[in-house]
Amino acid sequence: MESTNHVLKGKVAVVTGAASGIGYGIADELVRQGAFVYVVDLRKTQVDEAAAAIGPNALGFVADVTKLSDMDALYAEVKSRHGRLDAVIANAGIGDHGPLGTITEEQFDRTFGVNVKGVLFTVQPALPLMTRGGSVVIIGSTASEVPPPGMSIYGASKAAVRNLVRSWVFDVKGSGIRMNVLSPGTVDTPSLRTALTKALGAERAAVAVGAIAERSPSGRIGTPREIGSVTAFLCSDAASYVNGVELFADGGLIAAV
Ligand SMILES: NC(=O)c1ccc[n+]([C@@H]2O[C@H](COP(=O)([O-])OP(=O)(O)OC[C@H]3O[C@@H](n4cnc5c(N)ncnc54)[C@H](O)[C@@H]3O)[C@@H](O)[C@H]2O)c1
Repeated sequence: MESTNHVLKGKVAVVTGAASGIGYGIADELVRQGAFVYVVDLRKTQVDEAAAAIGPNALGFVADVTKLSDMDALYAEVKSRHGRLDAVIANAGIGDHGPLGTITEEQFDRTFGVNVKGVLFTVQPALPLMTRGGSVVIIGSTASEVPPPGMSIYGASKAAVRNLVRSWVFDVKGSGIRMNVLSPGTVDTPSLRTALTKALGAERAAVAVGAIAERSPSGRIGTPREIGSVTAFLCSDAASYVNGVELFADGGLIAAV
């Protein structure tokens, strides 16, 4: 569905993990709704290609959300180009399969490094640039409530960000900045297909996607653009009284559990 009502006209946004999947869908939708978007991701070729595909109101920036120096450099660039920031979307996230008994320290540190520390490093240094009416959206997951078997560390990291937000909304009280978690259900991204193929093999992965879709009250999995349009709503003035929530955009998947 194409949206063109420009509810974010003139707003400046940062989207992390925006070179692919959900982050790309969010960045593309925010630009369509009138925003200028910094497309932040790990690799230069990827960010440049993604920004070029989105158009002139997108600018690629290479940064690793787990490195504070990278994020400081990003916000220094935002400050010098725009002098302010209206929306921060902490989307970069990772997760892999690992049942209890197989979980390694490296896997734990990597997952919490990107999904929890990376969220802190995305949000905290952005605050001095953020305007009244600004919006922080952290991309969580239905795994915060119902972690799939073998995904305990990922689920725990997504539950953690919900609690960060529940505390942070009090820390920024009086600033006019809103903070929410947007938790997608299963969304069709290259990384979803790769992860399922790695865990189950190609044939069973395709069957698994079909089974997830079948379980959902909507009868299908989501698209990155659908997460983009909910993000645009949370960044818009229409959501001015939505603060501190975990909003599920999951086609009803949680209700079906
Ligand atoms: N796809 C799903 O079904 C689904 C469901 C619920 C939640 N999510 C969440 O949505 C977000 C995006 O997932 P996706 O499926 O689009 O994944 P993806 O792998 O397609 O995209 C993630 C992007 O983040 C980037 N990234 C990873 N580590 C980074 C780092 N340290 N610094 C900067 N960028 C980094 C990757 O390069 C990649 O481009 C994640 O937070 C994920 O947990 C995904």
